[in-house]
Parts: sequence; C-alpha cells; structure tokens
Amino acid sequence: MTEQPSFKTVFVFLDTDKYCSPFDMLVAIDAFPDSMIFKYENVTDEDAPKIVYDLLFPRGPMGAAHTKIFINGSNFDMVNAVVAATQSCMKSAPWGNSIIVDPRGGYSTAAAAVAKTLGASLEKGFGTLEGKNVTVLAGTGPVGQTAARIYAAEKATVTITTRTMAKGQAVADKINEEVGAQRVKVVEVRSSEQTGVAIKAAEIILAAGAGGIQLLSADELAKHGGKCKIVGDINAIKPLGVEGLGSNDDGKEIKTGVYGIGALAIGSLKIKIEKEMIKRATMEPQGLFDYAIAYEIGKSKILKKLAKAKK
Ligand SMILES: NC(=O)c1ccc[n+]([C@@H]2O[C@H](COP(=O)([O-])OP(=O)(O)OC[C@H]3O[C@@H](n4cnc5c(N)ncnc54)[C@H](OP(=O)(O)O)[C@@H]3O)[C@@H](O)[C@H]2O)c1
Repeated sequence: MTEQPSFKTVFVFLDTDKYCSPFDMLVAIDAFPDSMIFKYENVTDEDAPKIVYDLLFPRGPMGAAHTKIFINGSNFDMVNAVVAATQSCMKSAPWGNSIIVDPRGGYSTAAAAVAKTLGASLEKGFGTLEGKNVTVLAGTGPVGQTAARIYAAEKATVTITTRTMAKGQAVADKINEEVGAQRVKVVEVRSSEQTGVAIKAAEIILAAGAGGIQLLSADELAKHGGKCKIVGDINAIKPLGVEGLGSNDDGKEIKTGVYGIGALAIGSLKIKIEKEMIKRATMEPQGLFDYAIAYEIGKSKILKKLAKAKK
C-alpha cells in the first residue's frame, strides 16, 4: 500500500511593511497550534512572484493546499499590488494556494464594526443597512475606507469625512466605481461646524480615526446628531473617538435614543472573524479571503446571535 503524505499547515506571511506584525501571526498560531509560519518583510509586487512560485511547487498540489499565504501591510495600494501579483502567479501555475488578506487588521476590524452596527440597528428595531444614512468619520484610513466600502455594498448612503478633500474624494471615487453607484460622498472636516454638516443626516455614525484622536464631542452629537440612532468607535486609545462612548460599551444608550458600540466590543468580534477567516482558508485549497469574506462571517455571527436571543 502506498503511504499517503501528510502535510503540516504552513502560513507564509508577505508583509509590505518593514516589520511583520506579530498580531496576525499569533492569531494564526492560536487558530492552528501545530502550524508553522514563514515571514517575509518589505515585500513588493516585484518580489512577490519569486516567493510565491517557490512556495507553490515543492509540496505539489496536495502540499500547496496546506500552504497558506497571508498578505499584510499598512499601505493599501502596496498590499493590493502584492495581492494582484500573487493572484497572477496562481493563474499561470498548475495549482494554487489560499490567500488571506487583512492589511493591519483593517478588513476584519471594518467587517466587525459594520456587522456590530447592523446588529444594533436590527436589535433596536431600526432595520437593515439598506437605504440608511451612514457617516464614517475619518473614513480614509484602512479601517474607515473598508467600512465605507462594506456599507456601500449593503446599499447604504455613505458620507466619509477627511481633513483633505482630495484624499477623501479619491477613496469615494474608487468605492463608487467598485459598487457601480454614487453611494459615497465626502465632507471635509476641519471645524466643529463641518462635523455638524457631516453628521446632520446620519442615522449611523462610525468613528474610524487614528488612535488617540477624538472626532466627535458629546456637544456636537447633541447639537447636530438629531437623526443618529447608532454610534460606533474603533479607537481604543484615549482620548477615544467619540466623547461619552466607552470602549466596552456594547449597545449602551449613551444619550436618549442613541446606542453606542465601543472599540473593545468591536475588537472582540474582530478577533473571532479573523480566526474564522484563517480557518476557512485552511479548509479550502484555493481562494481569496478578504474583506468580503470577513463581513460575511461577521454578519452571519451577528444574525445567529440575534436569532438565538429571540428564541
Ligand atoms: N478595535 C479594533 O479591533 C481595532 C483594530 C485595528 C485598528 N483599530 C483602530 O482603528 C483605527 C483606524 O485604524 P487605521 O489604521 O484605519 O487608522 P489610520 O490610518 O491611522 O487613521 C485613519 C484616519 O484618521 C485621520 N486622522 C489622522 N490623524 C488625525 C487627526 N489628528 N485629526 C483628525 N483625523 C485624523 C486620517 O484621515 P484624513 O487624513 O483623511 O483626515 C486617517 O486617514 C485606529 O484607531 C486603530 O487603532 C482598532
């Protein structure tokens, strides 16, 4: 009888940054304690094919199915270029690998933030995201723009804010092109009055700014947020993104009729999503596991939890 080869699961990290973040390597090891990790840093789209072909062939098709590529980095454009170069290698090779993409946690965090706001909206009887007015404050970073992309894909009307109009407009144009509709617009915010303009129509507000930056004061929310029902924040570093909304708040009424979701409540779902993304990628021999899968996982977890609570 011929002996069947057994293959260890190996995660190969391709990181566009100077240092490969230990965060995702630890999540991968926790999801698969018997796995191994190889890491490559400062990876560009020019380097990627050399590494990808070298990991694709030595273990044959069955081994390749146990070799997973995790693409990471803080620069979205560089990450997307490495993803495209990797996918192009797969097209020209006789077999391929699963590719996980979660640039500095941006995809899993945005997926968790949108799913949590959807959950709160359904739980409080405000309905789905379709047709909702959503404002993503500082919606130009990796997390903010991915959240805006997911809200737009859910057919919400999205406003993103930025300190630099051109930067925000580039993000909005890209998302509108991807979803094939003008669903995202931009408001430049450099003053409290402009924050007021950005949130005036919002039923859902998500603060997606850099750590330690307050984007919305309690006074601004009281003055201009008359339509707001749900407010989320992904910044866990003090000062937090929304005054009066604590990191651990999870559906707490922070002001009459306004329910808040803080960064640690979002972070707890984020970790579950990332682990599940990695698990799914290890179950499939090939495929791209990115923000769309991350959101599908997050949304399904939230809907299951709501259904269970109703029973
Ligand atoms: N909760 C979790 O599980 C989790 C996981 C990962 C990340 N995070 C957090 O998520 C947040 C967003 O991450 P990210 O990587 O997307 O952030 P980022 O790129 O560092 O910043 C997001 C945006 O914040 C705006 N910003 C920066 N400094 C500002 C200032 N002084 N005043 C006003 N706006 C400012 C910038 O927008 P403009 O230049 O366009 O104005 C920037 O594009 C961070 O707070 C991060 O710590 C949370």
